[in-house]
Amino acid sequence: MNATVPPAPQITGEAAPGTTAVTTPDEALTRGLDAWRDLPAAQQPDWPDRAALAEVTAELAGYPPLVFAGECDALKEHLAAVSRGEAFLLQGGDCAETYAEWTADRIKNKVKTILQMAVVLTYGASMPVIKVGRMAGQYSKPRSKPTETRQGVELPAYRGDAVNDYAFTEASRIPDPRRLLRAYHSSSATLNLIRAFTGGGFADLRHVHEWNRGFVATSANARYEAMARDIDRAMRFMAACGGDFEALRTVEFFSSHEALLLDYEHPLTRIDSRTGLPYTVSAHFLWIGERTRQLDGAHVDLLSRVSNPLGVKLGPTTTPQEALALAERLNPQAEPGKLTFITRMGAGTVRSALPPLVKSVSDSDIPVVWVCDPMHGNTFESATGYKTRQFEDVVEEVRGFFEVHQELGTVPGGLHVELTGDDVTECLGGAGHIDAEGLSSRYETLCDPRLNHQQSLEMAFLVSQMLSERAS
Ligand code: PEP
Ligand code: CO
Repeated sequence: MNATVPPAPQITGEAAPGTTAVTTPDEALTRGLDAWRDLPAAQQPDWPDRAALAEVTAELAGYPPLVFAGECDALKEHLAAVSRGEAFLLQGGDCAETYAEWTADRIKNKVKTILQMAVVLTYGASMPVIKVGRMAGQYSKPRSKPTETRQGVELPAYRGDAVNDYAFTEASRIPDPRRLLRAYHSSSATLNLIRAFTGGGFADLRHVHEWNRGFVATSANARYEAMARDIDRAMRFMAACGGDFEALRTVEFFSSHEALLLDYEHPLTRIDSRTGLPYTVSAHFLWIGERTRQLDGAHVDLLSRVSNPLGVKLGPTTTPQEALALAERLNPQAEPGKLTFITRMGAGTVRSALPPLVKSVSDSDIPVVWVCDPMHGNTFESATGYKTRQFEDVVEEVRGFFEVHQELGTVPGGLHVELTGDDVTECLGGAGHIDAEGLSSRYETLCDPRLNHQQSLEMAFLVSQMLSERAS
């Protein structure tokens, strides 16, 4: 299961001015980064070509980092502000990125949707919104079953484009390690485009606000017009006071994905020359999924050794003891912003399943960020046979999440959403009233159903209302 040739972590980056470069990474640190190899690793592909895997991991180990350790530290500081209730996190993107949807327009529409949502949430929360894409690396998926059967034919399950192909043929479903290289290159180009958009004027607050005015101008969304008008007035007030709109031409935008494939994440884990600490340089923020968060497992071990800000998904069966043990293991220094718990309980369960977890962790001295993933606990199959979610359930889980934190006096830190910037029809409901028949018109996801552009904005307006009610 594990690569036979462990690639040596390499030194990256330059020493910051005034500091001395660490030239020999601490032996123990480097050795520790291989400890996962002796532990059970859930959800790993059974790569048949071991020689190709060894070549690929060695090649990845020599590739440049996709992110800089200093950026990961900056995000950690922003998340520390989230944990104190001084900022709000918006994390969103596809369930699974795919090579077929790897186009400039798709990427642009996703970034645009997240920026539009962020403006609306900033207004409601009266706080900075930290923007993190489920983008530029979300190419692998955990599966509930290792195989898929169609009309009596059983093949290995699709595990994301970094592993195998979705087409239901024997050849397509064979895990091919060379696909890991494509995941790296696709992530690199996606991140480059995101950096261009968010640094080059596309994200200018004035444009984003204009796009939102376009959204509320349609009759289905007229009920959000009052809030858009308020934002408009706030913008004019800022301008009249001599507000520096030039400073609002660029935004910070971070990348994240589930750290699932250890044969990808390990070669991209490096000792930073500035700090002498290990960072996984495939993304700014990595999370561990609901199916791979075993305390004695390989995922928790590898990530417990890196300095990036981390997330862990917690579903309704998580015990308070497990949550606490994960907090102790992944945030042993009790660093603010280091660890985010992304809870995905389900609309009907959040009010009973979340409080024991929040209580047990907040009784300890370990600060965590609490984020709501209102998608993964609300999935079901429609009468017409599609894996779907009901928009109203998604909103209801967010409402329950806010209520729980309000009751316990803890901070509801943000949202983690599966969305796309396109007009797909994968989730039911919303102002567009997508129904079971309507799902077939543009059902494009290869994995979980995403909110479309309209549903995403609608959610942002509804959550913004919840946030402003809390603030007043
Ligand atoms: C996901 O975020 O796509 C996912 C698989 O989530 P979870 O680990 O919460 O099931
Ligand atoms: Co998903």
